[in-house]
Amino acid sequence: MKIGVIGLGTVGFGVVDILSKEKDRLAKAIQEEVVLKYACGLEEIELPEGILYTKDYKEVVNDPEVDVVVELIGGTTIAKSIILESIYNKKHVVTANKALLAHDGKEIFKAAKENNVHIFYEASVGGGIPVLVSQKESFIANNTLEIAGILNGTTNFILSLMEKDNLSFEEALQIASDLGYVEANPALDLDGVDAAHKIAILAMNGFETYAPFDDIQPSGIRNVTKLDMDIAFKLGYRIKLIAQAKLVPGGIGIDVGATLVSLESLVANVMGSYNVVEINGDYVNDIVYYGRGAGRHVTASAVVSDIMKTVQERRWNHDYKEGTKVFPITLSKYYIRSSSVLPIEFLEYYSEKDNHVYIVDEIELSKLKQKLEGFEYVLFKVRG
Ligand SMILES: NC(=O)c1ccc[n+]([C@@H]2O[C@H](COP(=O)([O-])OP(=O)(O)OC[C@H]3O[C@@H](n4cnc5c(N)ncnc54)[C@H](OP(=O)(O)O)[C@@H]3O)[C@@H](O)[C@H]2O)c1
Repeated sequence: MKIGVIGLGTVGFGVVDILSKEKDRLAKAIQEEVVLKYACGLEEIELPEGILYTKDYKEVVNDPEVDVVVELIGGTTIAKSIILESIYNKKHVVTANKALLAHDGKEIFKAAKENNVHIFYEASVGGGIPVLVSQKESFIANNTLEIAGILNGTTNFILSLMEKDNLSFEEALQIASDLGYVEANPALDLDGVDAAHKIAILAMNGFETYAPFDDIQPSGIRNVTKLDMDIAFKLGYRIKLIAQAKLVPGGIGIDVGATLVSLESLVANVMGSYNVVEINGDYVNDIVYYGRGAGRHVTASAVVSDIMKTVQERRWNHDYKEGTKVFPITLSKYYIRSSSVLPIEFLEYYSEKDNHVYIVDEIELSKLKQKLEGFEYVLFKVRG
């Protein structure tokens, strides 16, 4: 097997490193020599002996000797050209690019099918957690009923820090930024867009349907205050950025937003930059996947396992349903905090200083908002 890695940043360098160090063991596992022929990046870096460095991705995708192209530059423009050109040249593709697959998965999967090549993308969701291979292979007996989880380590790190060190959102964000945990475009993390990319990919595989990404309306954690975290904790909850997908009448429901989860749940106890994915299947019931969602070697671990999978005969099926509509998931329990006494029925009520807090039973958001017309309030979903 001859491989070309394109993009030598955080993940790309990790892939070069693992492929070089584990070369013999990997070759034994797949019973074939594993040769990293090209490392392609904009700036030359020190490479292990025998690997050709190039600045020009075309050299990699047009080399008839290359069997697998690994796209690790990110973004939705050049990365898309690299992937499609590789596929048209009959090369298997491995990528970690969640943004591209969430937006253009349909086109890429169709091209891979037409050209009879593999496209694997385990690292695009949950970093090193082998959740996609589980969905596509181990879960095959099941119809997926629901997928939910914490899919963005940066926001989970910020929320955990707010609780642990008694910090405001702004203070915790500053620390996360100083540590280099926040994407160059912070909206991707803070406004739930990155988590939306990942839940879109999980939903596509789980419900075997393409989902137009632009129909998803994620929200993030910018409106989470320390006050709400403290009150939620007193009531037996933690606030987490939860991404959720489930079948709803007429399509699939996909939602990303700050949500109260019971302190007794597994999800509530996932702290720091860890990720968790819960999948509910009709035969197996609940399965939980937990691990690190990012990091050089963590992510490279998933990429290398994808590269090794390209020797298998059977391609993953991506013949998914088209034309499916995506809706927000608005039927839920809710947490409401207001400085006014509110005219609503509730499951739990709590008051502290000038704050009146209500947990209300499952209700359509539009109906709840009608009841709250004229009042100022803060509102989050409550899960479970
Ligand atoms: N980092 C993680 O832990 C993680 C986890 C899961 C998934 N991912 C995904 O993995 C992918 C890569 O992420 P990353 O964190 O490794 O990004 P990164 O550190 O920014 O690395 C990307 C590299 O690609 C290079 N590049 C840009 N355009 C190129 C071109 N035309 N030809 C060759 N190289 C080019 C960049 O060079 P310059 O810096 O000089 O522009 C950079 O070195 C993304 O899709 C990301 O979403 C990352």
